[in-house]
Amino acid sequence: MDPTSQKELMEPRSVALSIIIPTYNEAQTIVKMIDSITTSLPSQLAAEVIVVDDNSPDGTAGIANKLGSQMKDGNIHIHVVSRSSKQGLSSAILAGVQFACGEIVVVMDGDFSHPPQTIPNMVEELQDPKCDIVVASRYVSGGSIIGWPFKRKLMSRGATRIAQVGLGIEIKDPMSGFFAFRRKIINDVKFDAIGYKMLLEMLVKLKGVRVKEIPYTFRNRTLGASKVDASVIYDYMRAVYRLYRHGRSELSERRASVRFLSKAGRFYTVGASGLLVNYAASVSLYQLFPALWYLHGTIIGILLSMTSNFFLNKIWTFEDRNFDRKRSAVQYGMFIAFSSIGALLQLSIVYLLVEGSQMDYAIALVIGVIIASIGNFIFNKKWTFKERIWS
Ligand code: GDD
Ligand code: MN
Repeated sequence: MDPTSQKELMEPRSVALSIIIPTYNEAQTIVKMIDSITTSLPSQLAAEVIVVDDNSPDGTAGIANKLGSQMKDGNIHIHVVSRSSKQGLSSAILAGVQFACGEIVVVMDGDFSHPPQTIPNMVEELQDPKCDIVVASRYVSGGSIIGWPFKRKLMSRGATRIAQVGLGIEIKDPMSGFFAFRRKIINDVKFDAIGYKMLLEMLVKLKGVRVKEIPYTFRNRTLGASKVDASVIYDYMRAVYRLYRHGRSELSERRASVRFLSKAGRFYTVGASGLLVNYAASVSLYQLFPALWYLHGTIIGILLSMTSNFFLNKIWTFEDRNFDRKRSAVQYGMFIAFSSIGALLQLSIVYLLVEGSQMDYAIALVIGVIIASIGNFIFNKKWTFKERIWS
């Protein structure tokens, strides 16, 4: 059963705080974790612990359930969301959030890497209405890591850097698995929940979210084993790529004028690259095959540059990733036709200006290129790639 329906089937719970612990084979620590959480929280706080277990072979879920029934009458309740198979950390967290009732949600690991003693500080920080997410951070002053091998530290630093540079994240520890937030801030977010990095996805998708980092010491687990493996790294790359694309499509939702100019800019950049291709191809053909008539070399150069322009404009300028053969062939034909018409137009404009109005050739050429390329852009936008002109 999915966690939302599971929640709806239960009596409504009134709690201030939901602590989510995703588990996979944490039988050795889960009881001690919950004990430690219980003693760390102020006794008047109504809280629930939600263990999201992916059918751990070591029986974590059963142990948590048993503890839950023993603690039924206390003010901290234990719930277990059981899933049928291992589906990844992010999606486990998401399932926990869907099941949660607390106004505030805390996410933490089940292996004592994250000290439960930090939870009250995180909740405290969230009392400030100007703060939406509190990240327990290893990389702010006062924070640290104990017990990780050099390789793992390096991986973590690298992944952090990728997120900061690639996704424009400013906080110091976006990879943290220990964080708290007001539950309602994610009501409208659609999550991919790939891999390990739930927090990262929140940071990217919640625009204008106000984050506070507080230091803590991460201690490598002493019991059980980490679930981080090559597939987690692969998932991380996939998640970053999707978040990067997400950011770009958000960008394109901005004003039509911005989008129009951005595409025009790309179209002109491609055009300039075409000149280089054209020049390089013509010259090298001429040198490689001295027997080739130079005008034939020039024609091949022009065709090559039109072709590279076509592909670059299709993929980059107009972001059209549909490579259906027939569709692409038609587009290619139209692109070549418009480019040729553009060239003729340019030629006629230059001719008329120089011969008719006695204009300086250099100025006439600039005017010819500008008019022809604007026409080229508009026609290809509208007919080759079937976009509205002003968009
Ligand atoms: N339900 C479920 N399903 N739980 C999972 C899964 C899964 O597929 N994979 C991992 N977990 C649980 C583990 O049982 C543990 O409680 C917690 O998620 C963290 O997993 P670890 O395997 O112990 O991760 P780690 O210690 O190597 O990495 C931690 O530190 C990183 C800091 O760089 C995690 O907190 C990461 O999120 C964090 O980024
Ligand atoms: Mn761990």
